[in-house]
Amino acid sequence: MQFNSENYTIKEITLNGNTLTYRAFNDIPYVMNPINPEFQKLSIYVPENYYHDKSINSYTLKTAPIFMPNGVGGYMPSEIEEPGYARFGKPGTINSLFWALHHGYVVVSPAIRGRSQKNEAGKFTGKAPACLVDYKAAVRYLHANAHLVPGDTNKIITNGTSAGGALSSLMATTIDHPDFEPFLEEIEAFNSTDKIFAASCYCPITNLEHADMAYEWQFNSVPHYSRKKMVMTDGGRPSFSAEDGELTELQFALSGQLKALFPDYLNNLHLMDSNGDPLLLDADGKGSFVDYLGKLLLASAKKENVDVASIPWLDESGKLDIDGFACDITRMKTPPAFDDITGHSPENDLFGDQTISCKHFTTFSYEHSTGGVELADMDVVKMLNPMHYIDDEKATTAQHIRIRHGQRDRDTSLAISAILAAKLRQSGADVDYQSPWGVEHAGDYDLEELFDWIDRISK
Ligand code: DHB
Repeated sequence: MQFNSENYTIKEITLNGNTLTYRAFNDIPYVMNPINPEFQKLSIYVPENYYHDKSINSYTLKTAPIFMPNGVGGYMPSEIEEPGYARFGKPGTINSLFWALHHGYVVVSPAIRGRSQKNEAGKFTGKAPACLVDYKAAVRYLHANAHLVPGDTNKIITNGTSAGGALSSLMATTIDHPDFEPFLEEIEAFNSTDKIFAASCYCPITNLEHADMAYEWQFNSVPHYSRKKMVMTDGGRPSFSAEDGELTELQFALSGQLKALFPDYLNNLHLMDSNGDPLLLDADGKGSFVDYLGKLLLASAKKENVDVASIPWLDESGKLDIDGFACDITRMKTPPAFDDITGHSPENDLFGDQTISCKHFTTFSYEHSTGGVELADMDVVKMLNPMHYIDDEKATTAQHIRIRHGQRDRDTSLAISAILAAKLRQSGADVDYQSPWGVEHAGDYDLEELFDWIDRISK
């Protein structure tokens, strides 16, 4: 299990006129006792110039930050990725691995188990918390081989989008927490550390126990939904088919009940803005927390030189009409958005166990269940929510966290990332949080800015 620096191939690729030469150390097992040996592997990529005494952006083979993106979408399994074209987004878009190498980072790509996987005996092998356990185990491999692997293991930066963004935020907040120890021991991960330096999180689909109430707090006034229905596919992000309609009477009632739960949750977090003023909501869901989102969206509009006078739901002082905002970006999901009362959402599938594919993960949906579905082990549900670990002394938090949640993202409420950012900031982490104007549910769309941020914090 020692890193072998002799076991590599040199690759050269040219994409859109950009040529990259790199060393690929492929398919390295990162645990001693894998549950799924095909997946618990990683590849390391290194700019070839580092082996010829050259530096890139003033980094060298020993000092280069280690960029460690995960390819997880929809909490599905993710295979090892290679520098090349992006698997999703506009055709012809080059992926983050290519540009990161081009920029001088060492890149590590782990394969990660996901919720749909089964072993030969028909048992599920990638239900929660497997995705996070694997990501941690891969980082532990790097630390255990710190003196052998290329790059600076004190500068590991995770990156991911959506479910992958959630994983990146969890990597930043659950470092070395004992909750994960039995799972890491089971697969015989290295007994080193899963410490990372920084995390980049695009539109994290997280805080799943409270995501339904946050969604209805934001979208309660929007009776029409339109979405692409997620279809499960193995080995990549899910595919989608179009679907739209009006909320039923039952769904509308659920929306009202969920919306009413959100202010209490939010108020009990005792969050503050950067001036130390409390972020609160009254029983109608109005208050200083809305102003905090308004300021975030105002800054976003200004960054893109959008004429604020042309936005009916926002004014120059940052006053936000949350209903007008929700109406503009439209509703994607029906209530409850995540813990479906039929018990068959992607998140229900995430919290299944070895023999049961889907479970509820909120008492609300469990009590309203029409699917006869069990409640998940709440200790496991906790393990996929960064909010529970930020104040926990048994975990450390990464020093730097960058969160981006597109202004037009409707996959989860803007409140979810806003709460995460505020809580992290309050705990003393260096947080860079923005809601880029006009951006939908996506990631890796601003790699130049992301790499500027990495360079700034690393040098
Ligand atoms: C993803 C998107 C969702 O809307 C969701 O509920 C879970 C995951 C994703 O793209 O990863």
